[in-house]
Amino acid sequence: WHPPGSSSRGSWKMNGWKKTDTEVVCSPPTAYIDFTQQKLDPKIAVPAQNGYKVTNGSDELIEQKVAHALAEGLGVIACIGKKLHAREAGITEKVVFEQTKVITDKVKDWSKVILADKPVWDIGTSKTATPQQAQEVHKKLQGWLKSNVSDAVAQSTHIIYEGSVTRVTCKELVSQPDVDGFLLGGSSLKSEFMDINAKQ
Ligand SMILES: *[C@@H]1O[C@H](CO)[C@@H](O)[C@H](O)[C@H]1NC(C)=O
Ligand SMILES: *[C@@H]1O[C@H](CO)[C@@H](O)[C@H](O)[C@H]1NC(C)=O
Repeated sequence: WHPPGSSSRGSWKMNGWKKTDTEVVCSPPTAYIDFTQQKLDPKIAVPAQNGYKVTNGSDELIEQKVAHALAEGLGVIACIGKKLHAREAGITEKVVFEQTKVITDKVKDWSKVILADKPVWDIGTSKTATPQQAQEVHKKLQGWLKSNVSDAVAQSTHIIYEGSVTRVTCKELVSQPDVDGFLLGGSSLKSEFMDINAKQ
């Protein structure tokens, strides 16, 4: 990494010998890792420039990110419920409410916030939530907002669904009273993305 305006070049000077046991690496910005790997000789390793200190994030990290984004005037789509090892029955509500509370503490202007519900039980499994299960969670989230924030915020805040959605399931999902739209993962990479949007 170089500070803006600086640059450096490798200078081999008179060191013209060839070594066969030298390991060469090229470390580009993260967005270019795949590109760089494709272009370079496979003998050259492509390490990342940066990493994160734990395997995955935490509620506090989300809190800080939301606070920072809002303070900078950005809007956020806050994903609720994406928590591993939260598959055991009965703890969905606890997880969802805890995460919503963490975000809520940082929000002053709710017009900048969309909540996305990611069903906690379908992560890493082949199980998908039914439209009724999605509705149940969205209704609980709305109820949470109503009693813990305000009626107006509960009415106006969009709660979108981030579970598995297909061209077949989208109609029934979006007909649920408290499902206000979708945040699409895998299906946004397929042609059915157009069908899902067309049906709304
Ligand atoms: C996320 O972090 C937890 C706690 O460190 C760990 O047990 C879990 O395996 C991690 N999940 C993934 C997908 O890396
Ligand atoms: C309000 O928030 C608390 C703390 O998260 C929660 O236990 C309670 O169930 C919420 N109220 C409703 C109606 O969801």
